[in-house]
Amino acid sequence: MAEKIILDCDPGHDDAIALLLAHGDPAIELLAVTTVVGNQTLPKVTRNALSVATMAGITGVPFAAGADRPLLREIEVAADIHGETGLDGPALPEPAFGAVDRHAVDLIVDTVLAHEPGTVTLVPTGGLTNIALAARREPRIVERVKRVVLMGGGVAVGNRTPVAEFNIAIDPEAAEIVFSAGWEVVMVGLDLTHQALATPDVRDAIRAVGTGPARFVDELLDFFADTYRDVQGFDAPPVHDPCAVAHVIDPRVVRAVPMPIVVETAGRYTTGMTVADRRGPAPAGCRTHAATELDHARFWDLVVGALRTIGEPARTAGDAA
Ligand code: BDR
Ligand code: CA
Repeated sequence: MAEKIILDCDPGHDDAIALLLAHGDPAIELLAVTTVVGNQTLPKVTRNALSVATMAGITGVPFAAGADRPLLREIEVAADIHGETGLDGPALPEPAFGAVDRHAVDLIVDTVLAHEPGTVTLVPTGGLTNIALAARREPRIVERVKRVVLMGGGVAVGNRTPVAEFNIAIDPEAAEIVFSAGWEVVMVGLDLTHQALATPDVRDAIRAVGTGPARFVDELLDFFADTYRDVQGFDAPPVHDPCAVAHVIDPRVVRAVPMPIVVETAGRYTTGMTVADRRGPAPAGCRTHAATELDHARFWDLVVGALRTIGEPARTAGDAA
């Protein structure tokens, strides 16, 4: 049975690839896509999500826009990495359909409550504002979701600051709510995603698919490679967000181990840090996990396989969700 997920994202080059993986892999049933401010403003990331969905022929899945700012702080978007549009590089089609007329938080809550307990996984790949608001608005979802598999944080590395990863750093209060809520959290952090490099052989495999969506991913990765080289000194770009989807598809591809993790919200130098306790085996019943080990070949096989499945979707106005 396919794993039911809600993808909460801020596209974002790697968010777009996460969306394509979730759509194209048969092990995933995409229930809803929600957007949150992060890599760019909420209107920009929402439009990007709809454009990517149009390009890939995603139909019948509700898209909803959520929080346009963090819980307590002002947003600083990541134009240095994702450009002014949030998805600089490829030409984007006009969205063939719009977001539903509901707040993302309501869509998340209602979607979780509409399904059997323990069957819906939340997959946030942006700041955790929407997820924290949903948990506060309807605490029953904390019992109802299967788990939260998020891209964010890191055991021993940051990117927004020396110790804080972007998705956690932009809304640490939201992250603190999500990590301490009591549901199962799998942190797919930078330790893991810095292994998910789009190396030259990976780029060749994506190009060999030969479809419009594969060309779109190739152009995304051209831009992403340039910014990651210039801003962070990477030879090949780390493609973070699809790693969270890959963990849901196959935990052997993205391995996680139980580890106590809390979020720093009031550090002098460390706000937004995910403080992970590696001093020994996790205590029994530990509900937080950290992803540590990526099977690089199998991960990229999943992404390329999803692109092959998507193929060359027809694009008509009738494709509206
Ligand atoms: C995370 O930050 C964003 O820029 C990416 O989309 C990813 O979710 C990596 O730190
Ligand atoms: Ca993201």
